[in-house]
Amino acid sequence: MRRRTAREVMIAWSMVAFGASCTSATLGMSGVIGVSSALGALGVIGGARVAVAADKDAAADRPWMNTALSPDERAKLLERAMTPEEKIGLLHGKVGTPFRGEPMPDGAIGSAGYIPAIPRLGVPALQESDAGLGVANPGNVRPGDDATALPATLGLAATWSPDLAYRSGVVIGNEARRKGFNVMLAGGMNLARDPRNGRNFEYFGEDPLLAGTLAGEAVRGIQSQNVISTVKHFALNDQETGRLSLDARIAEDAFRESDLLAFQIAIERGKPGAVMCAYNRVNGAYACGNDWLLNRVLKGDWKYPGWVMSDWGAVHDLDYATKGLDQQSGEQIDTQVFFGEPLKRAAAAGVVPVARISDMVRRVLRSMFAAGLFDTPSDEGPIDYDAHASEVRKVADQAIVMLRNEHSTLPIARSTKRVAVIGGYAEFGVISGGGSSLVNPVGGPALRVPLGGEGQFAFWREINVTPSSPLRAMRALVSEGSEVLFNDGRYPSDAARLAASADVAIVFGLQWMTENFDAPDLTLPHGQDELIRAVAAANPRTVVVLETGGPVLMPWLDKAAAVVAAWYPGQRGGDAIADVLFGVADPGGRLPITFPASESQLPRPQIPGYGPPERLPVTVEYREGSDVGYRDFARRSQKPLFAFGYGQSYTTFSYAGLEVGGTTDVTVSFTATNTGMRPGYAVPQIYLTGGPGGPDRRLLGWGKALLAPGESKRFTVQVDSRLLAKYSTQARGWQVAAGKYEIALGASAEDLVARVQHELRARKLDP
Ligand code: BGC
Repeated sequence: MRRRTAREVMIAWSMVAFGASCTSATLGMSGVIGVSSALGALGVIGGARVAVAADKDAAADRPWMNTALSPDERAKLLERAMTPEEKIGLLHGKVGTPFRGEPMPDGAIGSAGYIPAIPRLGVPALQESDAGLGVANPGNVRPGDDATALPATLGLAATWSPDLAYRSGVVIGNEARRKGFNVMLAGGMNLARDPRNGRNFEYFGEDPLLAGTLAGEAVRGIQSQNVISTVKHFALNDQETGRLSLDARIAEDAFRESDLLAFQIAIERGKPGAVMCAYNRVNGAYACGNDWLLNRVLKGDWKYPGWVMSDWGAVHDLDYATKGLDQQSGEQIDTQVFFGEPLKRAAAAGVVPVARISDMVRRVLRSMFAAGLFDTPSDEGPIDYDAHASEVRKVADQAIVMLRNEHSTLPIARSTKRVAVIGGYAEFGVISGGGSSLVNPVGGPALRVPLGGEGQFAFWREINVTPSSPLRAMRALVSEGSEVLFNDGRYPSDAARLAASADVAIVFGLQWMTENFDAPDLTLPHGQDELIRAVAAANPRTVVVLETGGPVLMPWLDKAAAVVAAWYPGQRGGDAIADVLFGVADPGGRLPITFPASESQLPRPQIPGYGPPERLPVTVEYREGSDVGYRDFARRSQKPLFAFGYGQSYTTFSYAGLEVGGTTDVTVSFTATNTGMRPGYAVPQIYLTGGPGGPDRRLLGWGKALLAPGESKRFTVQVDSRLLAKYSTQARGWQVAAGKYEIALGASAEDLVARVQHELRARKLDP
């Protein structure tokens, strides 16, 4: 059957929503639900058509349509023209799907959130969709509308490639816009303080510089398509256990140097139109009603000009309006629509200053103007899913981390006679993570495996398999006369029998993760360790392919010849796995998160609050402070299973020529050379290893390049001075102490090959 274009799907969907009385001709005009207004026949989609209509009368009665003015000036003009009702209307929104017996809101095209248009003034509706792994379609609310499924964000982080992060953002933004969305709830970037966090796959790992840089680039990519992106979940939403009640506690200086710094870097780089505040409490106060976090840090110290939207169900009080929250999302989930009538009354009574209402409104409008929501023509062309699939295949290729490769087991020769493939639904595809970020992949899921279970969000407990079969991809790659045989892995003995008969055995290890649930430990579920052990015992040339949401333990490691971490590799994940295993692509990934040797090495061997009884208030004390992940391992001299930054290539590199310059602004230069026989990705990394205060470990920068055999490349990195500084709460800012610093070059946080001592002058920087 011919695939329907996104527009056709939307039209079909609209007909269902409106019943047969809507003619397809009418719907065909706009392709979306029409909004009757002064704009007549023009529908409202992402603001674009409104903009076209509005342009005409810009000069006369819509001065905010003057594109020569700044977004701030335009927002001010428009806000002044709004009635109190119109202003309040912009500050709260419904779930954008049918919800608890209520129909889908009029005008919504079906997604996480919706804020109606103001046709009188040409203000477009906000059509808000999840998110960072592609355009979601919750509960198939837009029947049959699928989208490119991107690799897990943790995989994107494993590419260490700002360029691929940007390009991933472009893919998401382009599809979002063509489907009629203008706000993406993307930019998930909580730090991986706990490798068991159910949402780590949606985030960028454990380091503030890597996470902030790549998240910023992903946001920039989305917004380049005239779609607003958030960053989320601000802040310290670093575990799912107790997620609605969790009180995450941390000292201010440590907070500024870790989770906050990650957001700060992403915001500076990506300029997201909105920041989504988190469910949890931060040092006692809920994140969405946290005056210190929102007013003092985000809007005060960082001068963030956009708006703060709540997470869905994260608003508990009206006074959040004065604590820094600008917009209540998914309002039916909260106990009240606080930012509706109650806010209007509070403003009329002077309880919430009228100036604050103006500020809230202007922040929303300002981001809408800045992202081009008022000015850009509508964009309903077909989506080039094939082009997007090749884009995300590149990401998946470069995300794969080769953790082990004894006796050059990898790459597998294409002429290998008998290849055994075991487990992992490999005949169907690759798994994806669950929750609000789940994307209905192009072609639809190849398989859905309900896991059962009870309680809230039990409906999320279903493994969705993206239709990119590694088995099929491998069969397409091997030479004529070679066989690739499959066993589903249910019985270790059976799998071992097949493995024993093959020249090489490839066994999959899956760890499905989802929003709302942490993993109790780092064991591969469903007894897969036993399967892997049996296969590895039967065939010394056993390759383990992990599709996981983060680190797992590998009790069979010394028996496995090779191990690769493929994360959740997305729409073309099967091809990417085959590419890397058979040497079509070099494994370009490096770990963005430490793989511990056991849970006992973690700052909290147990997840606070995990297990029954659920829903008790939970507190987590981040006593490790800013020493997240590898920093904590270094401080406590612990040896992880695999270090942050680690990953092998099919070639070898030398990293050398480390030079450090500057006494205030520091520049680091270094050279990578491909010393092997194949092209491969070099990812040289620069770490701070000591300062006047003693030993330290902190990523300062890195380079990434595909180098041909014999090729060298010199990199120069401008170091962000905040990474050399400590945050001082007394001095209210960053302080670089005068003295000697040690800067190292290496292939991971643990494998450092050169060190330079460097003298710095004292320096103070704004918060
Ligand atoms: C999630 C957010 C998501 C929102 C809307 C919440 O449950 O925490 O990440 O954007 O729902 O779907």
